[in-house]
Amino acid sequence: MADRYLSFTGTAPGRFLTRRLGLPQPAALKRWSPERPDLDGGLLHLTAGKSDLDLAPVLARTGLPSDDGHPAAVVLDATGIRDVEGLTDVHAALHPVVRSVAASGRIVVLGAPLDPADHHQAAAQQALEGFTRSLGKEIGRGRTVNLVRLTDAPAAGSTLRFLLSPGSAYVSGQVIEVGAQQVTAPADWTRPLAGRTALITGAARGIGEAVAETLARHGAEVVVLDVPQAEADARRVAERLGGTALPLDITAADAGTRIAEALPEGLDILIHNAGITRDRRLVNMPADRWTSVLEVNLASVLRTTDALLAAGTLRRGGRIVATASIAGIAGNAGQTNYGASKAGITGLVRSLAPRALADHGVTVNAVAPGFIETKMTAAVPLFIREAGRRMNSLAQGGLPVDVAETTAWLAHPASGAVNGQVVRVCGQSLLGA
Ligand SMILES: NC(=O)c1ccc[n+]([C@@H]2O[C@H](COP(=O)([O-])OP(=O)(O)OC[C@H]3O[C@@H](n4cnc5c(N)ncnc54)[C@H](O)[C@@H]3O)[C@@H](O)[C@H]2O)c1
Repeated sequence: MADRYLSFTGTAPGRFLTRRLGLPQPAALKRWSPERPDLDGGLLHLTAGKSDLDLAPVLARTGLPSDDGHPAAVVLDATGIRDVEGLTDVHAALHPVVRSVAASGRIVVLGAPLDPADHHQAAAQQALEGFTRSLGKEIGRGRTVNLVRLTDAPAAGSTLRFLLSPGSAYVSGQVIEVGAQQVTAPADWTRPLAGRTALITGAARGIGEAVAETLARHGAEVVVLDVPQAEADARRVAERLGGTALPLDITAADAGTRIAEALPEGLDILIHNAGITRDRRLVNMPADRWTSVLEVNLASVLRTTDALLAAGTLRRGGRIVATASIAGIAGNAGQTNYGASKAGITGLVRSLAPRALADHGVTVNAVAPGFIETKMTAAVPLFIREAGRRMNSLAQGGLPVDVAETTAWLAHPASGAVNGQVVRVCGQSLLGA
């Protein structure tokens, strides 16, 4: 279902009328295209306080020229701030430039992990989070603001590259923690997944199809898994992407074994995307609607993850990306089953991530989509759909490709220091933290 309001506000009379009426002003986001692989403009690198990070080589890899006139990307290194007085530098650095940041531009604030032994440092660093989220809500014109907490610049290379690219158009107001693990840079940054095999569940349509497409574009060999009833669509997607289809109901008790058998050479990237909704208020919800949602969205994710890790099918350096949802973070009326299943994904990620990395060399993260334009959301009643689209800082719904690009960053070989994160792809939804 096309977003007609967004098209209308893109015309001169539409802009005039909606401005006069004080209505939301969504800006058409500049996403990746072969003609426009990078942001439209240069990069401004600022520092608040004294920093020990050597960012220059990492920022050079974004390919963005430096620009202090109308930058498309601003990186503010605030890792050295240790007290409230130091926050003055944040204002001093960004106040003069915020107006000139290009439409659909990016501001990335770099912070340090909170120091448990220094509450002044912790207060100042946590302040950056409130700052980032507030600036994201007010900046407008399709511009995004995110915070990355890091200690080591090379470990955050893939993350900065993603946040300073068109791929992160619908990611705003996020706080991402990057560890200090040594990471391997790919030989070719434009096809970082070359030589890797990725299995995507629920990939016959919607977000899963976009994930398969994007991972294939990044060089991966894709396996398109979906229920046997969707086999024809799964084959069509696989053929288009030069991959293979795997018709399988992920809730089958032996799904993990069957995936392992279908991939005797092993697997590098496992994307748990398959999901269903069976909405009803709890008072009207029969047990089967509860169970089926918990089965598809959570139990099967736990079972197949356990089976594929135990069988050694997921190779070292592997990546697991599961799909949570803002409904699991903020809650949603009529979705106690769905909200429970998606919050369960967050629990799984947080607990398994450190162990999977230590024992198997595999990272575990999740994407948490907000309102994404798919068949699932096209079925939502008109007024609720309109509210879902507008109630975020970018005043529009996301596209499947936005979730796919975020997944590709988490699956990147150089993202080995990004682990245990739940990254929302929600245009900074007003719902939830
Ligand atoms: N669309 C949104 O706004 C949104 C928001 C938050 C989260 N999500 C999540 O993103 C994921 C994809 O959503 P979508 O909008 O593309 O949904 P969709 O309904 O368009 O696609 C889901 C796919 O999963 C497949 N699937 C369902 N049960 C399966 C099973 N048992 N085994 C194998 N495959 C199965 C379906 O056949 C379908 O192809 C889901 O996990 C969903 O909960 C979507």
